[in-house]
Amino acid sequence: MAVPMLKMGLVLSTMAMVTNWMSQTLPKLVGLDQTGARPGTSEKFISVVYPGQDEGWQVFGSVSDVGGKCVCRLLAPLPNLCQREPRHTRLRQIAQHMQNVSQYLEMLDWRTSRDLQHIRDTEQKIISVEMRVKTALSNPRTVTAEVLQDLEQSVLECIPLRAVLARFKSEVLKVEVLKREMDSVSTSLTQEQRHAYSSVQQLEQREILLQSRLHACASSIGCGKLLGISSPVTIRSLGSRFGSWMMDAMISSSDERVWSMDGYFKGKRVFEYRSLRDFAIGRNFEVHQLPHPWSGTGHVVYNGSLYYNKHQTNVIVRYHLLSHSVLTQRPLSHAAYNNTFPYSWGGSSDIDLMADESGLWAVYTTLMHGGNMVLGRLDPVTLELVQSWDTGFPKRSAGEAFIVCGSLYVTDSHLNGAKIHYVYHTDTHMYEYTHIPFHNQYSHISMMDYNPREKALYAWNNGHQVIYNITLLQEVKIFTEV
Ligand SMILES: *[C@@H]1O[C@H](CO)[C@@H](O)[C@H](O)[C@H]1NC(C)=O
Ligand SMILES: *[C@@H]1O[C@H](CO)[C@@H](O)[C@H](O)[C@H]1NC(C)=O
Ligand SMILES: *[C@@H]1O[C@H](CO)[C@@H](O)[C@H](O)[C@H]1NC(C)=O
Ligand SMILES: *[C@@H]1O[C@H](CO)[C@@H](O)[C@H](O)[C@H]1NC(C)=O
Repeated sequence: MAVPMLKMGLVLSTMAMVTNWMSQTLPKLVGLDQTGARPGTSEKFISVVYPGQDEGWQVFGSVSDVGGKCVCRLLAPLPNLCQREPRHTRLRQIAQHMQNVSQYLEMLDWRTSRDLQHIRDTEQKIISVEMRVKTALSNPRTVTAEVLQDLEQSVLECIPLRAVLARFKSEVLKVEVLKREMDSVSTSLTQEQRHAYSSVQQLEQREILLQSRLHACASSIGCGKLLGISSPVTIRSLGSRFGSWMMDAMISSSDERVWSMDGYFKGKRVFEYRSLRDFAIGRNFEVHQLPHPWSGTGHVVYNGSLYYNKHQTNVIVRYHLLSHSVLTQRPLSHAAYNNTFPYSWGGSSDIDLMADESGLWAVYTTLMHGGNMVLGRLDPVTLELVQSWDTGFPKRSAGEAFIVCGSLYVTDSHLNGAKIHYVYHTDTHMYEYTHIPFHNQYSHISMMDYNPREKALYAWNNGHQVIYNITLLQEVKIFTEV
């Protein structure tokens, strides 16, 4: 029996640049099948082989360091493979047969209408012969040799009718045969249709399977360990020293809108822009007026809802942006609030909401945890705490925190010289100290969140809205049949 074997490999993908050495040597080192690169690009393909690779379907994860994109590629079987299908051959025969039959029918039709004209003409002649015969019979004395000769001539002219009639008879037989053939064609067609229908169903099921494989591929290729942060790009300079801005963080979302929430204290106004470009130049926006004011800057938009901390409470509010209504609100049990355990910059940043590839999270602390940052996984619908982890890092000493692929990255400060200093991994319950520097251009970061869909960090830096690209070290799981 085939036993699936799990091979683990490391592949370096970077949102900014992968060095040639890395992209060419690393996969070989770890035994990854590198199936080729388009000339002129440094795009590389990592063959991710899934179990049940049937009929030539293959799924490839491709990481391109040019666009910084992770792409899943699908290799479908060659189209002419279908032509070898027995059903395809049978259908083609039926189609040819139908063509033959209809050509023949056309010919019959043309011949019949020509013959019909001949019969009509002949009919006139027969009627006139009949009249003349009748006259001759009732008055035999008028019948001269000349009249007889004329009659005979007319009768001779009617003789081809016999051939026409004979053809008619045989044609009636042919029509019978054709009718039977049509019947049989239509019977086999319904059979083929039934087959075709079940093939369509099979194809649909296969498509669903492939979709899920693609999804698995996309998420395996999009996840990894943070290695580096690019230089920041300033998108806009808007609002006060403290604030928050974001795009929808759900991976499968195609929402292009941008939200901006200025200030950390009692704010209620959420600016919504149609796109990043609109945000950058401050056009095409509308304003949402929240029913309850917010605290801090730890808001997140996930799957069309804005999640925020209600002012001077530990209640989390889920506000649905499309219907402008609050769908759920629930206290985050025991979570400290009201500037008790904020990040180092203060600002009532006790509760920081965020999302990664796998869903919605909250960073907070409680008295029981002695002010250590707690990472909690939230149910996005009920807002219930599903599971929590004590990260061991004092919340008041942290500048900001964001989550990538289930690991929490904590900065040591919000001021100049800030770097990623501490990482907590939820899968292993382990922490480690790191040194991942980044450029803190405007010297005061009051919000920093990872957007897994954009694969970028969004930060509010002293009234400037900036984006950083990130470099991830990826683990690719490869299944092979032994
Ligand atoms: C159609 O007609 C062609 C030529 O008359 C013949 O060779 C062929 O076998 C026919 N095909 C079918 C399916 O009847
Ligand atoms: C996103 O929201 C839609 C309804 O708006 C819901 O059907 C879907 O399950 C949600 N997805 C996630 C991952 O929460
Ligand atoms: C929150 O803090 C403010 C200022 O320190 C204080 O006036 C207020 O009573 C506190 N509210 C709660 C609910 O603790
Ligand atoms: C991130 O990378 C993409 C693709 O290379 C580039 O278009 C974008 O400007 C970069 N953004 C930042 C903030 O560096």
